[in-house]
Amino acid sequence: MSKKICAVLGLSWGDEGKGKICDAIAKNFDIVIRFNGGGNAGHTIVVGENVFKLHHIPSGILYPQIKNVIGRKCVVDFFDVIDEIKSLQQNGIEISPKNLAFSYDSQIVFPHHKKIDIMRENIRGKQKIGTTGRGIGPAYSDFISRVGVTFKDILENNYKEKLQVEVKIFNSIAREFFEEEIKILDVFNRIEENKKFLLSFVQDCYEEIFESFSSKKIMFEGAQGLLLDSYFGTRPFVSSSLSSIHGALLDFGLSFSDFDEIIGVTKLYTTRVGSGSFPTELEDGELKNIIQTRGNEFGATTGRARRCGWLDLCALKSVVKVNGVTSLAITKSDVLDVLSEVKICTSYTNKISKKEIPFYPGSDENLKNVEANYITFEGWKTKTEGLKTKTEIPAQLQTIFNFISESTNTKTSIVSTGFQREDLIFL
Ligand code: IMP
Repeated sequence: MSKKICAVLGLSWGDEGKGKICDAIAKNFDIVIRFNGGGNAGHTIVVGENVFKLHHIPSGILYPQIKNVIGRKCVVDFFDVIDEIKSLQQNGIEISPKNLAFSYDSQIVFPHHKKIDIMRENIRGKQKIGTTGRGIGPAYSDFISRVGVTFKDILENNYKEKLQVEVKIFNSIAREFFEEEIKILDVFNRIEENKKFLLSFVQDCYEEIFESFSSKKIMFEGAQGLLLDSYFGTRPFVSSSLSSIHGALLDFGLSFSDFDEIIGVTKLYTTRVGSGSFPTELEDGELKNIIQTRGNEFGATTGRARRCGWLDLCALKSVVKVNGVTSLAITKSDVLDVLSEVKICTSYTNKISKKEIPFYPGSDENLKNVEANYITFEGWKTKTEGLKTKTEIPAQLQTIFNFISESTNTKTSIVSTGFQREDLIFL
């Protein structure tokens, strides 16, 4: 792949297999930038016997020559990210400030953010969003509210006053709801004990990146999926960052035309964790069990069982258009190897008016009122796991790939055929 500026985005509600696709193409790039989200992400990369679960750290970290950047619109959990770096190092991955950089301006997630996240969810009861509990919403709220602490504050050693105010506000709410208060001195001590290590990775890398646009190969790695984007997703059941291409455009002053390729990753079916409407969701039963078990559909970050359903072409068409996706990477078709038929949702029917809706109706409120209509394809009923060449793809499966490409007007460039790094077909 000779692309210079490329993005890899998840086209659904996350967990599309972006980690593997990013890993597969990262080796062709000089710089890999995570541009949104935080410790809520869980990118799994399987290399032989080793399973790497990345949360904050970009997938390029498995290649020592790549510079990996955690962008300034990401939120970074001060303590969890240290564990993440150390655990990768213990597993033989070389990590130093040469190949990993945090930005000065990233908002930092502290223990009180996680507690607020969980407390709010508990109080909401049935109305909960189903967050990962990683403090993402509260940390992004701080960013929008112009409060909280950034790496710069810690570097300049003027973070204590800011953090103390936020923790004071948290404690006053915690008292109201009989929650455990945060002991600020404990947090200060932990920060002071660990800051030398973490701050060694904080670099003023934006100048270097801006200058590199004309000379280096740069890959933007999206976290979560486009339906979880805080603006374009299925609000309110979304995450709090811009997971769409707009997150990268905004942060780096880029336009669509600066990208040589925007790769959208989708499974051949759909999964969702957390609350929210899911028109193609399968009811509990044998079919769902087959997909959930064969696809190992359990969260990399939280271990939660993922809800499973058929591919939703209406949603796919919408996100492909809004994000200027130029090619598709289709993952996990091998999970469906044993099925005698595979369905794809091609329109909806409004449950009240009974009218057919040929497009994705957007917000959760609208999605609640629709029923999915499907086209049914014949299953291929043969093992495709681990296939490496296009000619081995069964005709029935190729028909489905062609149908998706024609319907979205977007070529399919990569097919992932299994968990292992090398289980890939480049078309
Ligand atoms: P939050 O990002 O933890 O605030 O969670 C908001 C919603 O996004 C919840 O439904 C989460 O389950 C979902 N979510 C956040 N990150 C991911 C991810 O990486 N994969 C899948 N779902 C995610």
